[in-house]
Amino acid sequence: MLNRYRKAYEKIAMGLLSFMPNEKDLKVLQQTIQTYESEPEWELYLYKKDEDYIGLVGVEKQECELIVHHISVDPSHRGEGLGKLMVQELATLNTDCQVKACQLTEPFVEKCLNNNEQEALS
Ligand SMILES: CC(C)(COP(=O)(O)OP(=O)(O)OC[C@H]1O[C@@H](n2cnc3c(N)ncnc32)[C@H](O)[C@@H]1OP(=O)(O)O)[C@@H](O)C(=O)NCCC(=O)NCCS
Repeated sequence: MLNRYRKAYEKIAMGLLSFMPNEKDLKVLQQTIQTYESEPEWELYLYKKDEDYIGLVGVEKQECELIVHHISVDPSHRGEGLGKLMVQELATLNTDCQVKACQLTEPFVEKCLNNNEQEALS
């Protein structure tokens, strides 16, 4: 289940964010967290399974679009469908917005959205 980011989860969020290829530098990572904390249109969610936070998705709301800027899953839980589940949950939580990708997240997000469309058609 997706939970909205809170300051108490800053270290967990930074750990998950650091799996993104563009978030390897600590200064960049701190700036990214700062953006999610201070900009109202930027929203960060953490995925909790049992007692652990194992996934993260970060979006920017632009009118009717929800642009996925960050998505990552703890390496020990990859390939279990969690990334796709987070994209689906985002769409369910924001029925008034269309989920979109940025250039960096496009390969994965587009694949998830295309899968969803195919599942809906079958
Ligand atoms: C990308 C990431 C979030 C995928 O999470 P995951 O939980 O392992 O993904 P899922 O198990 O939900 O995979 C769903 C589908 O996407 C595919 N997929 C996985 N990673 C992909 C990627 N980087 N690009 C395109 N498709 C990808 C899977 O093969 C799977 O395909 P299938 O439905 O045909 O079997 C995870 O690998 C990760 O955290 N990577 C590091 C961070 C990163 O690079 N994020 C940006 C990715 S564009």
